[in-house]
Amino acid sequence: MSVRENQLHFDTLKVKAGYDPKQHNNAVSVPIYETASYEIGTAERYDRLAAAEESGYLYSRVSNPTIKVLEDRIAALDHAEAAVAVGSGVAAITFTLLALAEYGGRILTTYQLYGGVVHHMNYLLPRFGVQFDKVENGSSVEDFEKAITEDTKAIYVESVTNPMATVTDIEALAELAHKHKIPLVVDNTLPTPYLLNPIDHGADIVVYSATKGISGHGNAIGGLVVDSGNFDWNNGKFPQFTDENIAIKGRYDNGRSYLEVFGRAAFAGKIRTDYLTNFGAALSPFNAYLILLGIETISERVQKQVRNAHQIAEFLESRPEVEWVSYPGTSYYKYNELAEKYCPYGVGQLFSFGLKGTEENIYKLVNAVKVFSYQLNLGDARSLIANASRTSHGELLPEELKKADIPVNAIRISIGIEDIRDLTNDLAQALEIAFQDTASEALASEGL
Ligand SMILES: Cc1ncc(COP(=O)(O)O)c(C=O)c1O
Repeated sequence: MSVRENQLHFDTLKVKAGYDPKQHNNAVSVPIYETASYEIGTAERYDRLAAAEESGYLYSRVSNPTIKVLEDRIAALDHAEAAVAVGSGVAAITFTLLALAEYGGRILTTYQLYGGVVHHMNYLLPRFGVQFDKVENGSSVEDFEKAITEDTKAIYVESVTNPMATVTDIEALAELAHKHKIPLVVDNTLPTPYLLNPIDHGADIVVYSATKGISGHGNAIGGLVVDSGNFDWNNGKFPQFTDENIAIKGRYDNGRSYLEVFGRAAFAGKIRTDYLTNFGAALSPFNAYLILLGIETISERVQKQVRNAHQIAEFLESRPEVEWVSYPGTSYYKYNELAEKYCPYGVGQLFSFGLKGTEENIYKLVNAVKVFSYQLNLGDARSLIANASRTSHGELLPEELKKADIPVNAIRISIGIEDIRDLTNDLAQALEIAFQDTASEALASEGL
């Protein structure tokens, strides 16, 4: 785009940022560059590309013109310096944590995290020398501060947590992290850049599962690492950014540091040059195209999802079979103030609720839905439901669920863009089936 992108608003950037048709045969829609490799031209040009003295494409594991549009568009939407697209949300998180904790560092986090990364943090990453400290109360800045050690290399949190939709105090944690000269990393998958901009609140690195609300159609696995460009890597705690690096050695020099080569985009540069290049997990250009297509309508889609989610939360709260609903505005929800501050247009489309009754009732409910589907994605245009403690958070031990404040009877739903009447009718008929044998006696004994 030739106009200054930083003067444009979100809804314009979501369809335009990062793409100049003149550089792509005037194609209006972003072309899909399905190529593994690129003609380099001359041996001298190869040397310049490898030494990062000239920008251009060598090989699509490292960079690709379709993927670059996605990276630049996300960087624009998040007010960031740069972004790197990778093969999945988990790859984005893994690369980020490994890059920060190189040389055996510690990462400080909470129990309130997507279940898939919990196993990772408990068992796998420690074998690579990365250790994790977890605070029980993710809203207590004091607890975070007490847990920081000399070796802590970052604080890692979800902006809105999966599956309870609790909102994190990003500004307070950013202030704490910066006081200790470490970056704040925020997984902003649930609210998406449309509902919350963590960098505006002080976050240094943002990660996404682009599989979810960003693409919004449940058709592509992808991840994004977003570098604010604001963190000072030259503070003595992060030699991996300041030491000479053999990966970006020029023909006649001994190597330069990521900070020297990439400047404010040093973190993104390292993720691309070290992690994407060496560990793989590259996004496919076709998936980048699908994610870009999803981003073009993110505001319109998420607005409707938030409206639907709000009505479904109210509907569920009014039902006698439902014990609690974890969504802003309901009687159970404890994070209303933070939700108002950080997500004034809504926390998103994902939340949880608990049934009175037993696991049998939960099984019957998820088996009885017809419009909702029983599956493990979220942020999809279609509504979905799952018993969280056995599925998305099945990795958590009972005591970890407790520490994460996730009741064992939590049923996670992600609300889509269907007609709200069909969604409420579907849940109503499923609740009736779930309780048809026990309803009269059990609910009557509770005076309902
Ligand atoms: C908050 C959050 N972050 C990251 C991920 C992982 O994303 P992916 O499935 O794209 O690897 C998920 C997946 O559910 C998630 O909910």
